[in-house]
Amino acid sequence: MTFQLIRTGILNESFLEIDWLGYSSSVATIHHYLEKINGELTGWLHSPLEKNDDMLDSIQRIASEIKSKADVLVVIGVGGSFLGARAIQNALTPYFGTQENGIQVLYVGQNMSGAYIQQLLNSLKEKEIYVNVISKSGTTMEPALAFRVFRKYMEHRYAKEAQKRIIVTTDAEKGLLKKMAENSCYRHFVIPANIGGRYSVLTPVGLLPIAVAGVDIRRLLEGAKKAAILLKEENLELNEAYRYAVIRHALYKKGYQLELLATFEPSLAKLQEWWKQLFGESEGKGKKGLFPATVSYSTDLHAIGQFIQEGSPILFETLLHFKEITDDCQVPFDHRNEDELNYLSNRSFNEINAISKQGTAIAHAEGGVPVIQLELERLDAYHLGYLIYFFMKSCAMSASLLQVNPFDQPGVEMYKNKMKELLNISYVKFRH
Ligand code: PA5
Repeated sequence: MTFQLIRTGILNESFLEIDWLGYSSSVATIHHYLEKINGELTGWLHSPLEKNDDMLDSIQRIASEIKSKADVLVVIGVGGSFLGARAIQNALTPYFGTQENGIQVLYVGQNMSGAYIQQLLNSLKEKEIYVNVISKSGTTMEPALAFRVFRKYMEHRYAKEAQKRIIVTTDAEKGLLKKMAENSCYRHFVIPANIGGRYSVLTPVGLLPIAVAGVDIRRLLEGAKKAAILLKEENLELNEAYRYAVIRHALYKKGYQLELLATFEPSLAKLQEWWKQLFGESEGKGKKGLFPATVSYSTDLHAIGQFIQEGSPILFETLLHFKEITDDCQVPFDHRNEDELNYLSNRSFNEINAISKQGTAIAHAEGGVPVIQLELERLDAYHLGYLIYFFMKSCAMSASLLQVNPFDQPGVEMYKNKMKELLNISYVKFRH
C-alpha cells in the first residue's frame, strides 16, 4: 500500500508544516495507551494475530450449510452490525448476479421503512432463505423490529425447521437477543465483548455473511493480519496508519472541516459507507471532528466536482485507488471514428480510469484542495482485509489525537433513548 499527500500538483506535505517530532511523542503515548487498555473495546487490535481456526471452521461450516439449503441469506442488523459485511460483499462480488460459490445476501433492519420490509418479504416468496440476526446489544430498535417480523415469517413458512434456519450473532452474555437465542435454541456466534460495533467486521458479525456471499474470509483475515503486524510499529515515521491520522489531524487543525473519501470503482460505495460510520461515530463528539463524506468517481465529478474544485475551501480529499481490478474492458477500434475516440482504442477502461484518477488528483490539488492518495495493489479479499485494519487503526489514533473516545457513541444512544420515549408516549396516548 502506498500513501502520500499532494497539494499543488506535487508531492508535498511541507505546506502543512507538521510538527512531526511533536506528534511522534503524542502518537507514541496514545499507541501505548491503546495497546494497554486491552479488554476495553480494543480487542480488534490483536484479534487478527490470534489463533482463530475453530471460529473460522464453524463459520465456514454454517456458511456451507446456508449455501446448500438457501437461495438468499437475509442479514438483520444496523450500523456496525451490517455495514462491514455489506461493504466487503459489494466490493468483491459481481455487479450483476452472484459470486460463483456464494448466494445472494440481502439486508434489512437498517431503516424503518414499511415499504422496504414488505417488498423484501414479497421478493422472497419463491426463494429458500436463512436469517442471520446481528446485534451486539440485542436491543437496537430497527433490527429488533425487523427480527420480530422475520421470526414470525420463518416460523410460519418453515415451522420447526425455522429454528435451524435462524442464526444469531450477539454478545456472549448480555441482551435480549442472547436470551431469545437460548430460549429458542438458535445456533449463535459471539461478538467479543472487547470489540465494538464499528470495529467488528472481522469477527463473526462480518465473516458469516461475507463467507455466504462467496468471499474468501481466510484471505481477508490474512490481509488484516499483515496490517496488524506492520502497523504495530509505534514509530510515526514507519507507521502509515498513524501518518494518515496525523495528516488528517493537522488538516483539521488548519481549519478543514470535511474529509471526502473518493473512489473510482462503484463497487466500493458501500465500503465508503462503512468508513463514514467508522470515522463519524468515532470522532464526532465534544463538538469536534472532521465530517466524513464520500464521493464515487466519475459519477460525482459530474455532480459535485465543481464544488470540490472551486467551492468553499472547507474540505480535503482522500483518493482511494486499487491498481488492479479483476475484470476489464478494452475500447474497440472503429474505422468510422465518428466519435474521434480511436486514439483510445486498445486501451482498457481500467487504464483510463487510473489516468482519470491522476487527472482528478492534479486538478483538485491545483485548485488548492489537499489530496491524500491511498493506493493498493489489487481489489481482492487480502487487500481489503489490510485496508480495513489500516482504517480502524488510523481512526483510533485520529480520534485519540482529538482527545475523544474512539469507542463510544453517546450521541447515537441519545437518539435511541429519545425514540423509545416518544414511542412509549404515543403508545400510552393511543391506548387511552
Ligand atoms: O458502532 C456501533 O457500536 C454502533 O453503530 C452499533 O453497531 C449500532 O448502533 C448497532 O448496535 P447493535 O449491534 O447493538 O444492534
